[in-house]
Amino acid sequence: MSSRTVIRGGLVVTASDEIHADVLIEDGRIAALAASGTPAAESLTAPRVLDATGKYVLPGGVDVHTHMEMPFGGTFASDTFETGTRAAAWGGTTTIVDFAVQSVGRSLREGLDAWHAKAEGNCAIDYGFHMIVSDVNEETLKEMDLLVEEGITSFKQFMAYPGVFYSDDGQILRAMQRASANGGLIMMHAENGIAIDVLVEQALARGETDPRHHGEVRKVLLEAEATHRAIQLARVAGAPLYVVHVSAEEAVAELAAARDKGLPVFGETCPQYLFLSTDNLAEPAFDGAKYVCSTPLRPREHQAALWRGLRTNDLQVVSTDHCPFCFTGQKELGRGDFSKIPNGLPGVENRMDLLHQAVVDGHISRRRWIEIACATPARMFGLYPKKGTIAPGADADIVIYDPHAEQVISAETHHMNVDYSAYEGKRVTGRVETVLSRGEPVIDTRRFVGRAGHGVYTPRSTCQYLS
Ligand code: URP
Ligand code: ZN
Ligand code: ZN
Ligand code: ZN
Repeated sequence: MSSRTVIRGGLVVTASDEIHADVLIEDGRIAALAASGTPAAESLTAPRVLDATGKYVLPGGVDVHTHMEMPFGGTFASDTFETGTRAAAWGGTTTIVDFAVQSVGRSLREGLDAWHAKAEGNCAIDYGFHMIVSDVNEETLKEMDLLVEEGITSFKQFMAYPGVFYSDDGQILRAMQRASANGGLIMMHAENGIAIDVLVEQALARGETDPRHHGEVRKVLLEAEATHRAIQLARVAGAPLYVVHVSAEEAVAELAAARDKGLPVFGETCPQYLFLSTDNLAEPAFDGAKYVCSTPLRPREHQAALWRGLRTNDLQVVSTDHCPFCFTGQKELGRGDFSKIPNGLPGVENRMDLLHQAVVDGHISRRRWIEIACATPARMFGLYPKKGTIAPGADADIVIYDPHAEQVISAETHHMNVDYSAYEGKRVTGRVETVLSRGEPVIDTRRFVGRAGHGVYTPRSTCQYLS
């Protein structure tokens, strides 16, 4: 049976255009667009009509960096795929790409199967996977080829966390060479973890145990150095590189210098680096633990370079790195030793709104908002134009967004399964009103009407941003 919906009268915003248009949805896909008020628009009819007058009609957000149920520091990220994808939908995100984890000594396949089992039947929105490669060996390298064929086309490696996820330069080079051959994209956590661990030990020996020391030992120079090294290794391997969660001005400079040479080097940053700072890490009474993530929050002065990078396209993507841990019982594991605070911040629900606030504040344009939050993440990770745009043939993943609504972000009202908000009390202009996933309502005028299991695994093609 054919299901049809028309969205009338909104301002359709994509990465390339802004037009007042009516949108016809048929069988979960966008069937047609026509300029509102024209005979062509009047000919678009459907049993279900959504009025978007005075609102934006946006492609659903694509968040390519989440960690639902991620094991870290003896505990697990507090959002399941069910709670995390529901919260994502509330915030106008309709696709996530989460990180399946290979444990040391295990195969990629085992890790991937475990992540499929966590997600399948539980998601309110569509999802894909990257693969965290923690153990580079001959078998792993062969498995990378197979995974690319199955739609897992990106692999995260860590220059940080020795003994857990860490890869040395030789392992990184091998994985990059493989990616260069099979079309995969290496995503790099660029921090010099070996040096950081020395500084952690020395800080703790001096009795520096508070959360703010997390920011002090994970030095800007050690992010910049690792970013530089990752770029050179990618160059040697002839592979493209995507650096995740860029936080420091000096790291942006490394990316910009590489891009000025014409190298296929890309970077993402996250809302926490754009809106929060070391001031939060220094909050009293152990509250700083709420802001412990890696790379760490930086002094406020770094924010200007991140916004500039987003405007100049030296940074291409804003994702969340959503990796929530409750303050009570989880962040508290690190009382008396900052190195035991599980790393990560909640944010999957806040990204689209915070970036709209950046439009209101004049940091980025409206189309750039959609480019960095929807279109480019989809292209970078092989989901375009199925995801990330509003065009005939695309999945009808659509957000009706009220650009004038005012809201105050708070743990009292958010939907993430975490007992605090990193943005508590922040006022933002703009709010998600209605969300469709493949034409089906997930949020209907501020009511959740979706269901766990609607969201399906979405295999990805290789990076489309290179061509
Ligand atoms: O602190 C963070 N970012 N936690 C999640 C794991 C990672 O490194 O992305
Ligand atoms: Zn990371
Ligand atoms: Zn440049
Ligand atoms: Zn992450």
